[in-house]
Amino acid sequence: MQSTVDQQRLKQDVARAALAYVPEDSIIGVGTGSTVDCFIDALADKKDHIRGAVSSSERSTQKLKALGIEVFDLNSVSELPIYVDGADEVNTHLAMIKGGGGALTREKIVAAVARKFICIADQSKLVAILGQFPLPIEVIPSARSYVARQLIAFGGEPRLRQGFTTDNGNVILDVHGLQIVDPYTLEQALNQIVGVVCNGLFAKRGADVLLLGTPNGVETKH
Ligand code: 5RP
Repeated sequence: MQSTVDQQRLKQDVARAALAYVPEDSIIGVGTGSTVDCFIDALADKKDHIRGAVSSSERSTQKLKALGIEVFDLNSVSELPIYVDGADEVNTHLAMIKGGGGALTREKIVAAVARKFICIADQSKLVAILGQFPLPIEVIPSARSYVARQLIAFGGEPRLRQGFTTDNGNVILDVHGLQIVDPYTLEQALNQIVGVVCNGLFAKRGADVLLLGTPNGVETKH
């Protein structure tokens, strides 16, 4: 069993490793979560070498600004060479479950713009089959019950994330009990449910590079 201190060190290791992918004089996409917090801390050392960042959440925006890194609106940026973000689960094909922090919609939008998605994660996130981590789904509040009934038909057990509103003013249903053998097909199918804003499967646009923190060092997977 890995201690919290060890896990934090692995997050810092992958965060530092991701700096090698940051091009000079670029605007980069930055995700959300505790691993990305480590990346933003590491990025501060490089802040004079980049133009700034596009952020996927209010949380990351505040942290970037506090460290003196300029934050751009995505609409004012036509291209992002890289997007660096964590994952709640990632499989060997680099498909992911994301949205544990509730920022999945903006994360998916920024990831869609980026040329390269670099996933940073400690080894606990690597799984053979996605679904042990409950799949987050952002839903328009008035559609919550309808969408929940549809999700039950998919074989899942949706639970409303209590006391949580997304940056877009919506709610999150966390779907338990799914064994996701075909993430690509499920991602498309969930998008067809009226009232679903976004689901936390990142399979159509998975990661291009996984930097995985292990006690023996950072492993790079493509
Ligand atoms: C936020 C996310 C995060 O990337 C995911 O939850 C991983 O977070 P952490 O690095 O704290 O484990 O998808 O919406």
